Amino acid sequence: MDESAIFEIFDGLPRQGPGSNKCTEKAFYLLQPLPSGARILDIGCGVGMQTLHLASICENCHITATDIYQPYMDKLLEQAAEKGLSGRISTLCASMDDLPFENGEFDAIWCEGAIFVIGFEKGLDYWKRFLKEGGFMALTEAAWFTDTPSKEALQFWQECYPAMKSIPENEKVIKAAGYTIIGSFRLPASAWWDDFYVSLERRLDSIEGKFRGYKDAESVIDFSRKEIEIFRKYSDEYGYVFFIMQK
Ligand SMILES: C[S@@+](CC[C@H](N)C(=O)[O-])C[C@H]1O[C@@H](n2cnc3c(N)ncnc32)[C@H](O)[C@@H]1O
Repeated sequence: MDESAIFEIFDGLPRQGPGSNKCTEKAFYLLQPLPSGARILDIGCGVGMQTLHLASICENCHITATDIYQPYMDKLLEQAAEKGLSGRISTLCASMDDLPFENGEFDAIWCEGAIFVIGFEKGLDYWKRFLKEGGFMALTEAAWFTDTPSKEALQFWQECYPAMKSIPENEKVIKAAGYTIIGSFRLPASAWWDDFYVSLERRLDSIEGKFRGYKDAESVIDFSRKEIEIFRKYSDEYGYVFFIMQK
């Protein structure tokens, strides 16, 4: 699948993956209170719906938001300025597997819907060094909610994300990486629809004509439509889970 087509298609959405301000907030309040002036690293921030919400609820913190695609972060900075949050959010274009930070630089790491890019085990292991001792990590990851998923759902996810695990399997990986689990919760199906799939469907309808004949873009569009259809049918069998942990 062509990556630039993915970025362009997902540009203009309120967010680039499942999630909601309500869930971001619920995860944030599961952390123990962060020190005044706390530094948070948001990895794979996209246009930063969660970054902006975190900055608004974590009053004295500073968030460094990183992503591989600069235009997303340009939008984030525009919105931060509109909301009067510019002084507390900075952005950095960097790949999540090669981050230019010092060991122990952050009080918390946030990552909504992006750790799958580097891989769950690898992300937990590599990012841990950037956390202070006792620092927190809060992230969302896709997980199976059943041991016996329907054939169609299993086939779809085995093709695009074969590493998807159950919640207990993910928790095992977290513990093996040396974290203590503070809490976890499933994102409701509304967190897939309201700010993500509803807008994505509208976007796919509006850009389909523009990309007709461009094979890579067409395959991204077809794939996205299929992903939505699978979720519509099987949202009780898998979904996103917020995992909150401590180093
Ligand atoms: C599913 S989106 C999630 C975005 C945002 N956190 C949200 O929940 O709306 C994944 C994000 O990871 C970013 N990304 C993809 N590959 C990356 C990489 N190698 N390093 C950093 N970010 C990357 C994408 O640009 C995209 O913004």
